[in-house]
Amino acid sequence: MTKRYDMVIRNGYTVTDREKVKQDVGIVNGKIVTLGEIPEMGIREIDAEGLLILPGGIDAHCHIEQKSSSGIMTADDFYSGSVSAAFGGTTTLLPFAAQHRGQTLRDVVDDYMARAKPKAVIDYGFHLIISDASDAIIGQELPAMIEDGITSFKIYMTYNDLKLSDYEILNVLAAARREQAMVMIHAENHDVIRWITDKLLDQGCGAPKYHAIAHARIAEKEATHRAISLAELLDTPMLIVHVSSEAALNEIRRGQERGLKIYGETCPQYLFLTIDDLDKDGMDGAMFCCSPPPRDKESQEAIWEGLIDGSFTVFSSDHAPYRYDSSGKLAAGPKPTFDKIANGVPGLEIRMPLLFSEGVMKGRMDIHRFVEVTSTNAAKTYGLYPQKGTIAVGSDADLALWDTEKQVKISASALHDNMDYTPYEGMVATGWPTTVISRGRIVIENEELKVERGSGQYLKRARPDAAKPLGRLVPEMDPNKNFDAKFI
Ligand code: URP
Ligand code: ZN
Ligand code: ZN
Repeated sequence: MTKRYDMVIRNGYTVTDREKVKQDVGIVNGKIVTLGEIPEMGIREIDAEGLLILPGGIDAHCHIEQKSSSGIMTADDFYSGSVSAAFGGTTTLLPFAAQHRGQTLRDVVDDYMARAKPKAVIDYGFHLIISDASDAIIGQELPAMIEDGITSFKIYMTYNDLKLSDYEILNVLAAARREQAMVMIHAENHDVIRWITDKLLDQGCGAPKYHAIAHARIAEKEATHRAISLAELLDTPMLIVHVSSEAALNEIRRGQERGLKIYGETCPQYLFLTIDDLDKDGMDGAMFCCSPPPRDKESQEAIWEGLIDGSFTVFSSDHAPYRYDSSGKLAAGPKPTFDKIANGVPGLEIRMPLLFSEGVMKGRMDIHRFVEVTSTNAAKTYGLYPQKGTIAVGSDADLALWDTEKQVKISASALHDNMDYTPYEGMVATGWPTTVISRGRIVIENEELKVERGSGQYLKRARPDAAKPLGRLVPEMDPNKNFDAKFI
């Protein structure tokens, strides 16, 4: 028999955001070329009997080989980060290329390209982080980056060295609207956090648990409302990242109910951690400090609900790996006050298995919705669909073969990142991706990495349809109604 296929996967069920089908998958040159019964042999034959074949995950929010605005380097580089992601069923990474004030965007992107190219084992693109919203950056540099395929970027409403004013945010939104790029926003009210922080520190309340008090829910809710209002004013789609509270989620829902293109993202820490984790002995709570912080049990439930009912568009890790030592969480000293603790938690590898286990296996979440929030929607939101995020003829053969019976006890020592802790130590996941394939290459098999450093490819992304403006201006901005003035 002629071997027409590089690889054929047989006997498994393919699962997309829409359907589950028992069919073979034929792969040539890294692409899916046939779905259905395949009589011909592949050069490589994979038996997926008893396994589910899902699209490889897309982690659309992670910090890899990135220096924070306060100068702390993440523990993962593009090798350890991409290996860890692959072991958890992710085949595409969209980390940040972070601008520090004073840097040109071209320099930033060149820098991150050089970091990732020799190391990444799966495919990757970048979102920019824009911390300098000067006219030159927004007017000239940003459009050039978008043209080059970096079609999304994150901006911040808090953090001293990242925060943009509302005026600057409007300039950024206007540029995103013109260029059809996706704006991601970290929505927390800076002055509310700063004010509560000062009061707490004045009273000697510096322990990690006070991080969650300072980053009050109302700071998140107010900023989310404001961000959505600014987006509405300029008719610009926007994605609110790492949503932690019901109040912020409800702001997103209200925007969506009004027909706005407002998208939301949440992350494992808001499903599986609570404020009690920040109240561990000594400094141990530092391991759980991220912004916004984990809240209470009721918030967890509300976030689950938003993930299940379609209010959230994507589920990302927000992997921000700072070790629990002087290189990371404790860089400011052995007992820093909460405001000096590096923000972020790791989660690249457990992102999908924990959601699969607690959501799909426990019957809370439909498996198609799982595929949607961990893969398909990220591809659609960030200009990668249908190359990524689905199982279809013509798509990249990015696949994860899930064994729904495999049980894994989460422990830092067994994960493949470069961290010295995991916030999820001891949790048991039922269901794990045992074979992971990226562009037709087996990346993970038999619990081993099978590809070389640098074998991942850079993804130049399209302008996402999701970022198309509605074409519906609020009356004040409409030049036909307002003395011919034109704002956008
Ligand atoms: O605490 C967090 N989420 N740290 C990472 C940086 C960010 O804002 O996403
Ligand atoms: Zn953020
Ligand atoms: Zn983040």
